[in-house]
Amino acid sequence: MAVTESDVREAAGAVQDPRLRLSLAELGLVGAVEVGGGDVRLELALPVPDHPGLDQLAAEVRRALGALEGVDSVELRTAPMDDEGRARLRDRLRAAMGASPGNDDGARQGGGGPGRPLGHEEGKANPFSRPGARTRVVGVSSGKGGVGKSSVTVNLAVSLARLGHAVGVLDADVYGFSMPRMLGLDETPVVIEDLMVPPVAHGVACISMGFFVGEDQPVIWRGPMLHKALEQFLADVYWGTLDYLLIDMPPGTGDVALSMAQYLPRSEVLVVTTPQPAAQRVAQRSAYMAKKVGLALRGVVENMAWFTGDDGTRYELFGSGGGQQLADELAVPLLGQVPLVAALREGGDVGVPVTVADPGGEVARAFEALAKRMEELGPTRVFRSELTVR
Ligand SMILES: Nc1ncnc2c1ncn2[C@@H]1O[C@H](COP(=O)(O)OP(=O)(O)OP(=O)(O)O)[C@@H](O)[C@H]1O
Ligand SMILES: [Mg+2]
Repeated sequence: MAVTESDVREAAGAVQDPRLRLSLAELGLVGAVEVGGGDVRLELALPVPDHPGLDQLAAEVRRALGALEGVDSVELRTAPMDDEGRARLRDRLRAAMGASPGNDDGARQGGGGPGRPLGHEEGKANPFSRPGARTRVVGVSSGKGGVGKSSVTVNLAVSLARLGHAVGVLDADVYGFSMPRMLGLDETPVVIEDLMVPPVAHGVACISMGFFVGEDQPVIWRGPMLHKALEQFLADVYWGTLDYLLIDMPPGTGDVALSMAQYLPRSEVLVVTTPQPAAQRVAQRSAYMAKKVGLALRGVVENMAWFTGDDGTRYELFGSGGGQQLADELAVPLLGQVPLVAALREGGDVGVPVTVADPGGEVARAFEALAKRMEELGPTRVFRSELTVR
């Protein structure tokens, strides 16, 4: 049976855009179609020439069309989408984020108190603070620098993605950003109209100040600008519908926790610490800060907990018991212990997280266990509009 134009449109329209996670029909990406016998020509109407994930998208369209009965050859071309199409696409993406144009419902949620989101422009509500938003937002913090927040963020993100979740990472360490390097990202976000589409590596979408300034350039700004940057990373990024958004927090207690409390009042916080009992006071301070601004402390992760020798013996190089001690003091669970492994540092340096490079190894197993604990715990507080008693 001969293939028809409408068969081709239907098959191409049903393909999911790998980055935007909507169908090509919904996105309006299927342009002109020509069918001559078994030869099919299709134009992909692209909003931007460097459409995110284009190679993968093209491969999937080819596969879908090639599978149609009666198709002998498939020729794909790209063409710029017209202004109207782009405006429609933008509205579609905003709607998928739950913030339809002119509908600033994120700013109305909460009704006062410390958790109230601030400062949204019309139509640019941050989707994570809306009632019914299903994304669990998890901040990874510590009192001190260098205890492994970023390493925990990256590897936990990869492990959650491996369990089948849609995961994003927001690098809130705007001065000392490290996420692009640790995830091995050399792509930068693609801007479609007024939305940034984050690049994806190892199944994890990522936004970082590192995409906008060079690695060796100093970033000099004050608190309010940082607050604004965080807002943009939430409201002007097309995250799609995430199950988890992990936030790599800068060291210390300060501004970011406060901004998170305002923009992401339902965030959960993990505190990373090392095993030496003497380090706990500093870690405790950051935990109390999070608590004070109303964020939910979820638990403690002890990093560099031990080193396993070739003979299988565990050496506790940095002492022991610190993670449990901190958890007890904060009255939260010790959610995981991550061993000290050279491959973890190397993975971060070369941009292939150890959970990707050695998925069956000791560290990957520790992160998988942590990811499963996070799943089990479920969100701290569930706000679902459909469950509201009127
Ligand atoms: N479990 C581990 N085993 C081996 N090396 C580790 C481990 N955890 C972290 N490291 C290494 O320690 C260094 C600091 O880790 P990381 O950058 O994750 O810490 P951080 O808390 O995010 O630091 P900062 O406060 O500077 O943001 C990195 O070089 C990292 O590769
Ligand atoms: Mg860091």
